[in-house]
Amino acid sequence: EPDALLLLDQTRLPAEEHYRRCTSAEDVEDAIRRMQVRGAPAIGIAAAHGLALAMQGARTEDPEAWGATLQRHAARLAGARPTAVNLAWAVRRAAGAAHRALERTGDAAQALATLEAEARAIEAEDRAICEAIGVHGETVIPDGARVLTHCNAGALAVSAWGTALAPIHRMHARGRAVRVFADETRPVLQGARLTAFELQRSGVDVTLITDNMVAHLMARGEIDLVLVGTDRITANGDVVNKIGTLGVAVLARHFGVPFWVACPSSTWDPETAAGTDVAIEERAPEEVTHVGGVAVAPAGIRVRNPAFDVTPAELVTGVITEHGIARPPVGAALEQLLRRTRDPAVA
Ligand code: MRU
Repeated sequence: EPDALLLLDQTRLPAEEHYRRCTSAEDVEDAIRRMQVRGAPAIGIAAAHGLALAMQGARTEDPEAWGATLQRHAARLAGARPTAVNLAWAVRRAAGAAHRALERTGDAAQALATLEAEARAIEAEDRAICEAIGVHGETVIPDGARVLTHCNAGALAVSAWGTALAPIHRMHARGRAVRVFADETRPVLQGARLTAFELQRSGVDVTLITDNMVAHLMARGEIDLVLVGTDRITANGDVVNKIGTLGVAVLARHFGVPFWVACPSSTWDPETAAGTDVAIEERAPEEVTHVGGVAVAPAGIRVRNPAFDVTPAELVTGVITEHGIARPPVGAALEQLLRRTRDPAVA
């Protein structure tokens, strides 16, 4: 809506389809922290819209003060979750466009119009990116393949179609046979609550398993490939993604199952050398001690709850982006692929 951002509250899925109406940057920041909106590209898009909402309420008479307010809101929104690079990327891109417009025109009203347009552009581009990932990703999935995915890197995590699930949605739309195994993804159950919901609703053949069933199914030859999303890929090709991804990748290597990663180029973070340099978000203990609000552990138990892990580049079969597929060495291949798309003269 012109003065509000409506977010499908993912914490209530699949039981309830409830939209949270955000009218301020604080609302959007809170929705990101609570994971009512989640998934690397989706939190970036939401934050860009959140920044535009915040600045709609700011006074435009004093351009300098307007610029300072923009900076303050941008810093808050970018800090809502630390691991996915897309969040900071989208906020930086939207705020940067607004700052440049302010410098050029000295007019805060024009800078606001630029900011709103940039937020819409980020979302529109994300839709096109999902489609392109679907086109490239489909080429690595054989007919009738049984695909394991972890967490939710589908339509709920982006603007449309998803990253890891884009090739699946595309295959389904084109009548190609594909079967998906969605693991639950404890502690927050994005696999059970979101991926299973999304694929079932789309009519895709999906089977839910618990996280500890992956090794058994791989050992029996029941999984042909793994396809996951990611929150950040570092310069050396390490893949930071939902906690549990590393375990799946290690199993895939052991059982000779290809391990594919899909993401937009905004997930590539060449400024960070390796996965060990990335801040891994630690979330509230209740996510581990409770399931659906019910305690499943003794009160007062000590808990660890890292929300992400790092899969070393050497375990990755390839990275599917909107510009094509990067194969090992993944870091160097991504660098080459993305440099070439910025400058087609680079061979
Ligand atoms: O904590 P979440 O649910 O935001 O984590 C999401 C993931 O780990 C996804 O796999 C990743 O963001 C890619 S989404 C296209």
